[in-house]
Amino acid sequence: MSAIVIAIANQKGGVGKTTTSVNLAAALAAIGKKTLLLDLDPQANATSGVGVEKVEGKNSYPALLGEEKLADLIVETPWKDLWLIPGGLDLCGADIEFPRLPGNHLARLKDALEPVLTQRDFDIVVIDCPPSLSVLTLNAFVAARWLLIPLQCEYYALEGVSMIMRIYNQICESEESCKLELLGVLMTMFDGRTRLSQQVVADVREYFGEKVFETLIPRAVRLAEAPSFGKPVMYYDAYSAGTSAYSVLAEEVLSKLKIKKCKTRN
Ligand SMILES: Nc1ncnc2c1ncn2[C@@H]1O[C@H](COP(=O)(O)OP(=O)(O)OP(=O)(O)O)[C@@H](O)[C@H]1O
Ligand SMILES: [Mg+2]
Repeated sequence: MSAIVIAIANQKGGVGKTTTSVNLAAALAAIGKKTLLLDLDPQANATSGVGVEKVEGKNSYPALLGEEKLADLIVETPWKDLWLIPGGLDLCGADIEFPRLPGNHLARLKDALEPVLTQRDFDIVVIDCPPSLSVLTLNAFVAARWLLIPLQCEYYALEGVSMIMRIYNQICESEESCKLELLGVLMTMFDGRTRLSQQVVADVREYFGEKVFETLIPRAVRLAEAPSFGKPVMYYDAYSAGTSAYSVLAEEVLSKLKIKKCKTRN
């Protein structure tokens, strides 16, 4: 069976995309799902976040150009059942290079990923997108089945969401092969002590309804510290609030996927 592909995207910077990609991927892997983390960001924060050294030229870019096989770029991580395709600065070239190449420039990742999905036995692929609605993010939209949008619990959380939703709708309509569906909106950096955080969650729930994950990711210092040790938070501090939040999120993601699979079958 082919793996489930989830893109984690929001064009807004610093909302918790990478933190969510790394820690959700690690939590899914820890419960026995063979997970591939695909770092599609030139900043490559997800790569260093799982303890893999950034090596110049060692990233998905040559495979996206059709020069190498994506499967050959998969690296092991120190963590159980978690593999990685590193990100790197080369990915900056995508906006200029992809449209120049023959074929659909928005389907380059989908085409490169297809053999990985059919030939390797991953259960889940998590794609960490860059903070833009660039050609890389659009490639992730076309390659993925599910979209997870992290929103930071701040006053301007909903600002910009209409932009990502518009692009999401446009790409679903224009790309025949696009099967993307919104899996959910994840509230990050929640601070239960502030009225602002609670108000923002209430506003987002009013806007997105049941699409908002019940799990709230707390603002937690361990989550901010863990990347500098190259560890997902669960391997940095097993008993921290961040660890338990991302474990609960992993269970919620799996149960949402199960429900949706049943619905599609009927
Ligand atoms: N729940 C949290 N609690 C505390 N700090 C957090 C939390 N989530 C993320 N951070 C910190 O906030 C910063 C931004 O997070 P992160 O890198 O995950 O966001 P991003 O959306 O991937 O950013 P970019 O848009 O630059 O890719 C980082 O320093 C990270 O450690
Ligand atoms: Mg990031």
